Order: sequence, then structure tokens, then C-alpha cells
Amino acid sequence: MKHLLRIGDLTPDELCDLVDLASLVRSDPAAYAGALTGRSIGLFFVKQSVRTWVSTDVAAIQLGIHPVVIRNEQVGMGSRESPEDVGRVLERYLDLLGMRVFDHTDLERVTGAVKVPVINLLSDDEHPCQAIADLQTIADHFGHLEGIELAYIGDGNNTAASLIGAVTRTGGNVRVASPLGFEPSEQILKSAREFGEVAVTTNPQEAVSGADVVYTDVWTSMGQEAEAADRRTQFAAFQVNHGLFELASPEGIFLHCLPAHRGEEVTDEVMEHPRSLVFEQAENRLHSFKAILLTALG
Ligand code: CP
Ligand code: NVA
Repeated sequence: MKHLLRIGDLTPDELCDLVDLASLVRSDPAAYAGALTGRSIGLFFVKQSVRTWVSTDVAAIQLGIHPVVIRNEQVGMGSRESPEDVGRVLERYLDLLGMRVFDHTDLERVTGAVKVPVINLLSDDEHPCQAIADLQTIADHFGHLEGIELAYIGDGNNTAASLIGAVTRTGGNVRVASPLGFEPSEQILKSAREFGEVAVTTNPQEAVSGADVVYTDVWTSMGQEAEAADRRTQFAAFQVNHGLFELASPEGIFLHCLPAHRGEEVTDEVMEHPRSLVFEQAENRLHSFKAILLTALG
């Protein structure tokens, strides 16, 4: 693994290896403590974050790495200095750059200008680190990824794009229910369909029926706040509530990358359901990011 901008940058084998390593790290963190001592990484944030910021910072420290959290308010990438020049300066100090941006092309511009690995910590297009933690959560719970039927309900943007690619690359199938105009891009669907089945519908009941995993994300992503009222109307029929979750397999689990907007895309009842694994999933961001660092820098 050199860069990780899109889930499609990983082969199915590389993805499975990362998930296996994440589970090993989770079960025996002491075995990896200090494994990358002496390295330094940058964790660059243009957007807000809780899970990604704290889990990547702590993952680095536990591996012996010095993390430098960089907020774009202090840097001015795109206004004070170009993404290329920011990257070329940072690579003189740092062994790897994790970056959370709005525009995915900013990541590509940095990547094109530097020799150190660049890891996407969320762009408007993809969220590959989240998808690896999601696979780990599914694999830990069911004991396998092969044959998993996942229903994704909601906006087919960044989190969904990486998730669909990840599930299909590891032997699962996906059913997406989105309002018209909010489906995953044709490019994402085409790439995923080379590995598994991806059905797209406007009917959430049809998508969830018998599913092993029911997954949703916010209706209004960071940067889309001006559209929030309109989106609440367009997505109203796509809430994951008790009635919808009941249609999943009796052993089906609920996942959400978080943050959740309770009462919008998901109800309290489903968030707090015994088969909701959202906080295990959040914890796995820590273990899986260690796996990413060990692979990229090991
Ligand atoms: N799931 C996730 O990436 O959370 P944050 O936006 O809080 O980092
Ligand atoms: N789709 C959400 C994911 C947050 C982790 C967003 O982009 O805001």
C-alpha cells in the first residue's frame, strides 16, 4: 500500500490483510506497542472530526509515532499556499500524511507532489479508513466477510462509496436505497460490480429485507449545511427506525459511521438496539488505523 485515497486503491487481498491485522492489533495491542518508534506523521484536518482525529492520534502514539495534528485554519491550504507546496513542505518533516478535506482533488494534488504515503481521512468522495473499520466490525461479529448482505440506506456519497467498494471486494453484496438523485456515482457502482452484486433502489424496505447489516449515514454531510432543510424532506422516507430494522435478518446488525443525527436518519431506538454495534465500530477506527500505519510504514 502506497497511498490510500480510495478503497479501490487496495486489492481484495490487501484489504483482507488490513482487516486481519486490525483484528490482531485489537486482540493484542501490546504486541504492536512502539512498533514504529521514531516516525512522525501529519494528521491534517480541513473539516471537523471526533473519531478520526482522536483515534488516529492515539493509534500513532501507541505505535511509538509522533503525530502532529494540523488544522487548516492555521495553514491556509488553498488560500495561503497551494496543496502541492503544503505537501512538499510537510514531507520534509513527516513520514506520512493523513488528510481530511472537502475537495478530493486536493488530496490528489498533494499525492501527486509528494513521495510519502497520503491517507484519505475523509473527502467529499470517499472515506476508506472508515470502510476498513466497518469490515473489521462485520468480520469480528459474523466471523467472516464472504457472503455478507449489506443494506445501505441514505445518501450514496463518501462513506457509502468506500463501504460499497469494501464489502464487494471482500465477497459481500450490497443493496442501496437512496432517494432519486442521491445514489452512489456510476463510477463507484461500476467498480464495485466487478467484485460483487450491487442493487440500487428507492425502496428502503426492499433493500433491508433479510440483510445481515443495515448501515446509514447523515442526510446532510459536512459542507452541505445549506441544503439541510431540503434534504430532510427528500430523505424523510429513508429513516432507519425500528419498523425498518425489523425487516433485516433476525441476527442483523446496525452500523453507522457516526456522528448520528438521532431523529433524522436513525432513531434512538435503533441506535440503542442490542444489535447496534456503532460504538464497537467507532472503537475499531483505532485498531484499524494502527493496521493502516503498520502497513504503510512497516
Ligand atoms: N466517522 C468519522 O469519521 O467520524 P468523525 O467525523 O468524527 O471523525
Ligand atoms: N457523510 C459524512 C461522514 C462523516 C464521517 C460527512 O461527510 O459529513
